[in-house]
Amino acid sequence: MRKRSHQVALTHLPSEVNALLPDNLPQPWDSQTLFGRQAPLELEIGSGRGLFITQAATVQPEHDFLGIEISQKYAKHCAILIAKKQLTNAMMVCGDAQAVLQNKIPDQSLAAVHIYFPDPWWKRRHRKRRIVCEPVIRLIHQKLIPAGKLHFWTDVEEYFLAGRQCIAHVPGFDGPIGIVEHVAEHDFDYRTHFERRTRLHGEPVFRALYEKLPFTSLPDF
Ligand SMILES: C[S@@+](CC[C@H](N)C(=O)[O-])C[C@H]1O[C@@H](n2cnc3c(N)ncnc32)[C@H](O)[C@@H]1O
Repeated sequence: MRKRSHQVALTHLPSEVNALLPDNLPQPWDSQTLFGRQAPLELEIGSGRGLFITQAATVQPEHDFLGIEISQKYAKHCAILIAKKQLTNAMMVCGDAQAVLQNKIPDQSLAAVHIYFPDPWWKRRHRKRRIVCEPVIRLIHQKLIPAGKLHFWTDVEEYFLAGRQCIAHVPGFDGPIGIVEHVAEHDFDYRTHFERRTRLHGEPVFRALYEKLPFTSLPDF
């Protein structure tokens, strides 16, 4: 197994393991320092309890995964899972995804962005806090490589429709591309914990996949 620079921390599981703070991300960006190699980078916004990032990093060892989670508790939980599974191709950052995208992630560097079951912010006056909004989608477009993927899944139909509308307002994405629901073969054969919970309750999951069109860059606001 490849070693990375902070491998030492993994010998003190679990109390020493933690998510990085955004200020500890290398500036300028340096995949070598973070992952010990150059590989396609995928980013998850709001990793929650870490099912996606740990499974994706396990089944796609040739890709690197960065999870951004605003809750310290969940960011640490994910970091511990990653360390326990000795995944050298996954890492957690504890912070606000919009700020991390804006300030830390280089343009045209992401092979994919994953947003699963983002907080719906039910009250109308709080909806401006939703992560799937035009400014964030524009940032995501800027950070994706050509043909990079944007995955957006939710159990809230109204958020799904509003999110799709806002992605449609940002030129330069192809989609939504249809996704067939995967039949779960075991108890944790779901994309995320929220997908598992929703489907076990017999409720629908709304899924959209987009691809950044090649050679598109957006004019500034
Ligand atoms: C409803 S949970 C879904 C968790 C996981 N994606 C899943 O499907 O199981 C939303 C997660 O997004 C995190 N979150 C909310 N706003 C965020 C932000 N601005 N940046 C990063 N994470 C955020 C929350 O702390 C929470 O863990």
